[in-house]
Amino acid sequence: MAANMLLERIGLEWPIFQAPMAGTSTPAMAAAVSNAGGLGGLGIAAENVEGAQRMIRATQALTNRPFNVNVFCHRPAIADAALETRWIERLRPEFTALGAEPPAALREIYQTFRGNAAMTALLVELRPAIISFHFGLPDQDQVGALKQAGILLFGSATSVAEASKLADAGIDAIVAQGYEAGGHRGVFDTAAPDDRLGTVALIRLLARRCDRPVIAAGGIMDGADIVAALKLGAAAAQMGTAFVACPESSADAGYRAALASDAANHTVMTRAISGRPARCLSNRFTQATERAPDAEIPDYPITYDLGKALHAAGKAKSEFGFGAQWAGQGAPLSRPMPAAELVRTLAAELQAA
Ligand SMILES: Cc1cc2nc3c(=O)[nH]c(=O)nc-3n(C[C@H](O)[C@H](O)[C@H](O)COP(=O)(O)O)c2cc1C
Repeated sequence: MAANMLLERIGLEWPIFQAPMAGTSTPAMAAAVSNAGGLGGLGIAAENVEGAQRMIRATQALTNRPFNVNVFCHRPAIADAALETRWIERLRPEFTALGAEPPAALREIYQTFRGNAAMTALLVELRPAIISFHFGLPDQDQVGALKQAGILLFGSATSVAEASKLADAGIDAIVAQGYEAGGHRGVFDTAAPDDRLGTVALIRLLARRCDRPVIAAGGIMDGADIVAALKLGAAAAQMGTAFVACPESSADAGYRAALASDAANHTVMTRAISGRPARCLSNRFTQATERAPDAEIPDYPITYDLGKALHAAGKAKSEFGFGAQWAGQGAPLSRPMPAAELVRTLAAELQAA
């Protein structure tokens, strides 16, 4: 499939993809983007089957256009009670300062999509136009079942090696996620060395070395950025941070305020929030954990259980600085406006460029 045929095959007016963002994108956002001629996205990684069903049906009720449903394909968490207890004790002083008690133990709060037959059956039944994978691949029989249902498949890659694995498994298009990107880094194996390729180098490498359409992601904030990505060989641009400030997102007031403040100039890549590397605004949580060695951080998503508990304790005292305020390096260029207006603005900038 040639790059320019990707948009035709999906039936889109604009090469503008709103990133699926677990916990932040909503059916209203995805539908608004798709109705405006871009590709809306839902992140269902934190949902069980009932939650995923609710979100997909809600989106289908708001748009007849194609949209993207995203799942996480990490290996299941490896629990380590002693490590988890040390992690709880490391953050105990932050809870104490908020007059709260940390949880006694941590849980694996989300299930991976890998091997999840019930979620696969739901997706086959509801048949969104696109399903995308982050953190690797599901089992080959899941890929087969989704393709058999006529669903187009995308997968995130942070390197040529990961893109080759996706192509070999029959994935239709590759989301090239550069190190600038906000949110979780899509690396397949967090124990392997990470070359931390930037978006420009990665798009170019994949455009030349991979026979699938490339979707550029990481630090793309306006029409000029999208044009640059297309010139480098991408078929479309996937933008997350640019959509966080839209009124349709479920970002809380603290996250929105941080994004609009000087904090937007200071993003950090950290494992301490969830257990996997992810880019976030520098805040009280990232500062409190910046010296934690990787070996002292529990597995994904067990670590996230404590981060969410601390955020809840903070919010109860109007302290928002412990939230997972995911953002990419382009965060200072974020423009708060309704999602459809953002798509129209980006499309106008794209045409002008
Ligand atoms: C708030 C937020 C949540 C995200 N959640 C997901 C997710 O659930 N699945 C996924 O594949 N990517 C997720 N990402 C990463 C995006 O797909 C994309 O790689 C990234 O947003 C691109 O960089 P940018 O934020 O600079 O635009 C998320 C990004 C953000 C900002």
